Amino acid sequence: MKILVTGGTGYIGSHTVVELLNEGYEVVVIDDLSNSKIETVDRIKLITGKDFKFYKGDIRDKDLLTKIFKENEIECVIHFAGYKAVGESVKLPLKYYDNNIGGTVNLLEVMNSFGCKKIVFSSSATVYGKPEKLPIVEDSKLETNCPYGNTKLMIEYILKDLYNSDNSWRVVLLRYFNPIGAHESGLIGEDPNDIPNNLMPYIMKVAIGELPILNIFGNDYDTVDGTGVRDYIHVVDLSIGHIKALEKIERDSGLFIYNLGTGKGSSVLEVVNTFERVNGVKVNYQITDRRPGDIDACYADVEKAKKELGFVAKYDLEKMCKDSYNFIKKAKETK
Ligand code: NAD
Ligand code: WQD
Repeated sequence: MKILVTGGTGYIGSHTVVELLNEGYEVVVIDDLSNSKIETVDRIKLITGKDFKFYKGDIRDKDLLTKIFKENEIECVIHFAGYKAVGESVKLPLKYYDNNIGGTVNLLEVMNSFGCKKIVFSSSATVYGKPEKLPIVEDSKLETNCPYGNTKLMIEYILKDLYNSDNSWRVVLLRYFNPIGAHESGLIGEDPNDIPNNLMPYIMKVAIGELPILNIFGNDYDTVDGTGVRDYIHVVDLSIGHIKALEKIERDSGLFIYNLGTGKGSSVLEVVNTFERVNGVKVNYQITDRRPGDIDACYADVEKAKKELGFVAKYDLEKMCKDSYNFIKKAKETK
């Protein structure tokens, strides 16, 4: 089966392309490299020993998408392309609405015109807002509190409306919890150029001395040690979740929604301590004020994905911390 992966050189996309190639899928990638590097293409080929077609370009470019669909018999799309920085989305909402919503609508129009009606979409646990009940089940109340989150929820609505208008679409909405870690080879991973917004990339940069100290945003939450609790999932596990979603889309028609997490919450201090212990490095930190908009705890109910997709994450926090450090050390050596 030939799969188009939008955003396929990005953090989650690149790991998913590796798993797809390993599973024998034919892969075509489109990415405008706005948040990833061209080297990733060769690194994916090195890891897998397999080839795939890469198109550099923007999913908002209808002519390019049309050319890709003409040149390749795409049967299904895994749609990662989009911007994801919460803080930036508050400052530049139109940038986010244009790219995330505009890009998706454009993609769906071209898919429709070629009769390609299977899509797996990268949604996020952010659509649950402040959860009323933990662990979070898929039919919980949905609410978002920033433009980025709004784009994820709006795209979910767009896909639901599209499916309701034409039941021959097959749609899987995957709500990711907190992906961290990297491929074991250390060749692909997440290494933002700017100061990271998310916890693990920040820890990684402190560990290798690129940043002086980690600010822990509050230790007065109602959690095990007062710091925020999240459901961290290894990016390789998350990628395998996409293979399971493809298998589902092949088996059954409909619109399906799944959480992808481990079901286990870890506090910020647990992550820092585990990172230090398994890697034998010091991560300096200080406690600062809470970050506006943060919630105390968030972790997934993973039963639905287990039952309907046969998906269970297999890597623990230790492995996530080891692989993250291995990747950032290698990335530093090659800079
Ligand atoms: P990423 O930024 O590493 O990857 C996104 C890729 O899309 C990048 O390579 C970027 O260059 C590309 N891109 C952006 N706009 C594009 C456009 N218009 N046309 C073509 N390419 C474009 O992000 P990621 O962490 O791999 O996330 C992938 C998806 O998963 C995103 O949609 C994100 O919102 C979603 N998601 C991520 C997380 C997370 O914590 N990383 C959590 C939940 C959901
Ligand atoms: C995790 C924990 C912070 C940084 C965000 C987005 C969400 C999703 C994933 C895409 C929290 C604490 C963090 C730091 C800290 N992305 N922290 N110091 O907030 O769960 O979710 O990324 O969909 O939409 O909102 O992840 O990694 O930013 O934070 O103490 O420098 O680490 O307070 O408790 P979050 P995160």
